[in-house]
Amino acid sequence: MNNLINKKAPIIWHGCDYNPDQWLHMPEVIDQDFDLMVKANCDVFSLGIFAWAKHEPEEGVFDFDWLQDILDRLHKIGKFAIIATPSGGRPRWLAQKYPEVLRVQENRVRDLYGQRHNHCYTSPIMREKVSIINRKLAEKFGNHPALVGWHISNEINGECYCPKCCDAFREWLKEKYNGDLDKLNQNYWSAFWSHTYTDWSQIEPFCHHGDNDVIHGINIDFNRFVSHQTAEFFRIECEPLKEISPDVPITTNLMGYHPESLEKRMIANQCDFTSWDSYPMWHDKKCGNELHWGKEVAFDADYTRSLSKNGNFIQMEATPSNTNWQGLAKHKRPGVHHLASMQTLAQGADGVLYFQWRACRGGNEKFHGTVVGHDSSEEARVFKDVSALGGRFKALQSIVGSKVKPKVAIIIDAVSRWAITGTQGFSLDNKDYVKICQEWHSVLWEMGVTSDQRESDEDLSSYDLVIAPMLYALRDETPDNLKSYVKNGGTLVGTAITGYADENDLCYMGGFPGPLRELYGLWIEELDTLWEHDENSLVPEKNNILGLEKSYKLKTYCERIHPETATVVAKYADDFYADEAVLTNNKYGKGSVWYIASKPTDEFKIDFLKKLIAELNIPVALPEQEKGIVANRRYKEDKEFLFIMNYNDKETTAVLDDKKYRCLEKGTILEKSILMSPYEVKILEYSQSNR
Ligand code: GLA
Ligand code: ZN
Repeated sequence: MNNLINKKAPIIWHGCDYNPDQWLHMPEVIDQDFDLMVKANCDVFSLGIFAWAKHEPEEGVFDFDWLQDILDRLHKIGKFAIIATPSGGRPRWLAQKYPEVLRVQENRVRDLYGQRHNHCYTSPIMREKVSIINRKLAEKFGNHPALVGWHISNEINGECYCPKCCDAFREWLKEKYNGDLDKLNQNYWSAFWSHTYTDWSQIEPFCHHGDNDVIHGINIDFNRFVSHQTAEFFRIECEPLKEISPDVPITTNLMGYHPESLEKRMIANQCDFTSWDSYPMWHDKKCGNELHWGKEVAFDADYTRSLSKNGNFIQMEATPSNTNWQGLAKHKRPGVHHLASMQTLAQGADGVLYFQWRACRGGNEKFHGTVVGHDSSEEARVFKDVSALGGRFKALQSIVGSKVKPKVAIIIDAVSRWAITGTQGFSLDNKDYVKICQEWHSVLWEMGVTSDQRESDEDLSSYDLVIAPMLYALRDETPDNLKSYVKNGGTLVGTAITGYADENDLCYMGGFPGPLRELYGLWIEELDTLWEHDENSLVPEKNNILGLEKSYKLKTYCERIHPETATVVAKYADDFYADEAVLTNNKYGKGSVWYIASKPTDEFKIDFLKKLIAELNIPVALPEQEKGIVANRRYKEDKEFLFIMNYNDKETTAVLDDKKYRCLEKGTILEKSILMSPYEVKILEYSQSNR
């Protein structure tokens, strides 16, 4: 396994999107940039993300001199570059000459030229033009000594409904269904409301003024097609880069679980390391204190890492201060930028980059937070903050290449997500599947337990515990995958609304949870849905195998289940199903399966997971802490790096275990407990030598 993103730059990557292409008419500003880069302790710059119009001012006429100059100058001062392929923003001339590159919206109206991130992924012209410009970039710069990575496009997302995309969808379906329209009709349950297809040409992808959500199967297939088409476009983007510069690692800046239509792993599998753009709304108190936003960062960071083939990943973007699009341009309070960035490292990232280096004078991002403001002042608070962080990173270089060791996985499955979104039913306001899964992640993260996020058909054998909340729709491979995981000794947890439908959103006949009935050892007879103001409770059985003692509130969903081979661990307290099972355990092969027939609150999740984690000997970064203190560990050879973070705006004590640690930045030896300042992060090293 390659532990480094690029052995050419074995440092913590710290830097920014850098857009000198907007400043070529002001060379004195660019001169100043090179001076400030050193002072800012920034080392890695992502270039040319939206520079197509500069690279190719007219069709077939290329100008790379400016980029050559920037790269040479970066190299001269010992800095590194990531070069982006420019498809995130296509030039005007391209759209003017070939309107087919413009996206058509779901209402079937073609966009005018404008905005960005909105080209058609099917257009042969767009594919050809991207392939040409990427090849030119690779030929020109693939061997440049400053180059450490390729950045494909920008925040890939979206769907196109142009005639070419609709035709390609029909062809894709013909292939998928082997030309059998009857099979498609059955999978889509299209006899419903007389929606039977009698010819392939009648197929239209999703639109509000058409089928909307009547036929769930086709909407799921359209998401599959969008993922396929986007991945194919991505492959075409990467092809010349892989051919000409095979040693330069490829990434793209993902956005966590956005957009819903894209199955991220189809993109991530083509990358050598993953990255994401991180924009939590720090200080929005509606959601609680900074701990809440720490949970958001943790969730996306863990997801980005889970998507990486080798665990290598970075944060590609975040703001060093404020955004300009969040409704309120709140600045990070002193300390919070260091906290957010160190947390990113704590989750296993080897780099923290920002959007962007310098504030533009015009355009709609001129008031977005940057490292260098309009004043170009190295005395500005944000500049000094970034520079100080870069300085701290230099003292932490020994963590580069160390990894987290997740023994827990949460299944967050694209097919279940698509199916739940499209399904009419349940509590319509409470079927945010990703959020429900995220709540489990947050509880683990706060406890100091690192978790991965997996699709339901992926290899789970390295995990001691797998949590699969609300796994409503099962891929064809899912039942066998989960069964073999448990059979071989794994522990699995499921929650209400599991195993209702297959991967086409066709409900299972013969009782839920369909093909998981034997695994969970129960039959789900019916689902009751509670009003916001309703609740039920979970009451543990006396002397239950988990040792649960108190009762817990239950909200939103209560299934009536009938244990078949499963043992009852807790029962409902109220309603017509009082005294019926709500929590069960089933032994299966060498493993164990838990089912919670409801949507438990965090209070239950915490106690339940604590018991399982202790029983399974899953590593916890530190024993239980005061609220707001969170810890995480990375490992390398005989060393452990312990990150302790204080999300509170007040001093809080962190309690260590019985080991002796060395503060990586200060060299002091620490043991027992540490008084942490507001938002402080400490990075401690433990190795056999300082025992
Ligand atoms: C996104 C984009 C960037 C920039 C930032 C602003 O993440 O990738 O180009 O627009 O948003 O926050
Ligand atoms: Zn299209």
